[in-house]
Amino acid sequence: MTLALLSGSPVRTRPFSPWPDYDRAEEEALLSVLHSREWGGYHPAVLELERAFAEMHQVPHAVACANGTIALEVALRAAGIGLGDEVIVPPFTFVASASAVLLCQAVPVFADIDPATLNLSPAAAEAAITPRTRAIIAVHFGGHPADMTAFHDIAQRHDLKLIEDAAHAHGARWLDKPVGGWGDAGTFSFQGFKLMTAGEGGMIVTRSAEIAAYCWSYCNQGRRRGGGWFEHVRLGTNYRITGFQAAVLGAQLIKLSRHTETRAANVAYFRKRLHEFSGLASAADDPRASHNPHYLLTLRYHPEHFEGISRDRAVEALQAEGIPVKRTYPYPLYRNPLFRKESGLLARYTDWRPSQDYATLNLPESERVCRDGIWLNHQVFLGDEKDVDDIILAVEKLQRHAGSLHAAKGAALMESK
Ligand SMILES: Cc1ncc(COP(=O)(O)O)c(C=O)c1O
Repeated sequence: MTLALLSGSPVRTRPFSPWPDYDRAEEEALLSVLHSREWGGYHPAVLELERAFAEMHQVPHAVACANGTIALEVALRAAGIGLGDEVIVPPFTFVASASAVLLCQAVPVFADIDPATLNLSPAAAEAAITPRTRAIIAVHFGGHPADMTAFHDIAQRHDLKLIEDAAHAHGARWLDKPVGGWGDAGTFSFQGFKLMTAGEGGMIVTRSAEIAAYCWSYCNQGRRRGGGWFEHVRLGTNYRITGFQAAVLGAQLIKLSRHTETRAANVAYFRKRLHEFSGLASAADDPRASHNPHYLLTLRYHPEHFEGISRDRAVEALQAEGIPVKRTYPYPLYRNPLFRKESGLLARYTDWRPSQDYATLNLPESERVCRDGIWLNHQVFLGDEKDVDDIILAVEKLQRHAGSLHAAKGAALMESK
């Protein structure tokens, strides 16, 4: 058996489950908005989605908006975050978790992650608090809830706002309480890869009527809910979701729990089978994470168990076998040019001086998972055990034939000389 990367036959040529998943429900929802001729953000489907989403997350308020980045920005503004305030964020996350802070002219301060859950470490976050810290953004990375017991406690003790970035974690629960309702506000994304999607879209959930009113108003040109069309009580903008998106999301919400159950069963089976190997591992969930919807599964790759083949080469080899694995983020966010540049700009407007020098920052766990992490996304686990068996077969094949990749590289080098 030759590796597909070396012109052998791949383990799998069949695609995995298609994403997004839709059926007649999404079709009918779209048509009903179309025929209503009320296509924008004031279609009743928006209110209905907000109601259903709030109910699922056991909070009194939900405000829909255009996407997950805006949801975070608006939640931060509603929590009073502004010019020069420091907000603690993890660096192993999508850019929006930290760029939303910059959009409020505030400053992201990066703290390292817990290697088991890949979420912001409560101890590291607490150690990063300075007199300028105003908030913490806990990202529920990959669907695994962050340690909300600890973050809730830290926020209380230091009088900080707690914002949950739940872009990956629709319906996730910590100690059986849904995410989003632990902090001052929680934010979600409905972008095309997310666990429920309308291509784009976002949601803010909160227990606070005041925060909800601010968020709705900011996303609706500073209007007041129930007020006049031309009555603008604060600066705001148009961050609305459309009726089409809300109607599709209503149908997606109904599918979420079935999808989550399927993924949970397949991920459990995958983890069991993965124990057959050394060199590729997925940490078990924290037992307090009572519900993990498994948006992204991160595997840790150890080259010494694969004849020294690099992580990147292993990813290429698995992809060639028909398994859609991906490398994790290329580097932690603080090494992204954006943050260095923008934090310099901020210093022009305030007397703010960095409490953290991004240029020399080195948070070891975040660095490590960018080097050795491999992702499998939720779509791969929406099928059955045979899909999982194929992933295992591909890993087995790679492990058995890793040596041949070395030999091939050596031969190619000789030829080029
Ligand atoms: C952790 C995290 N936060 C926020 C966002 C932003 O969501 P959106 O793409 O809907 O703006 C994403 C998007 O992928 C994300 O992964």
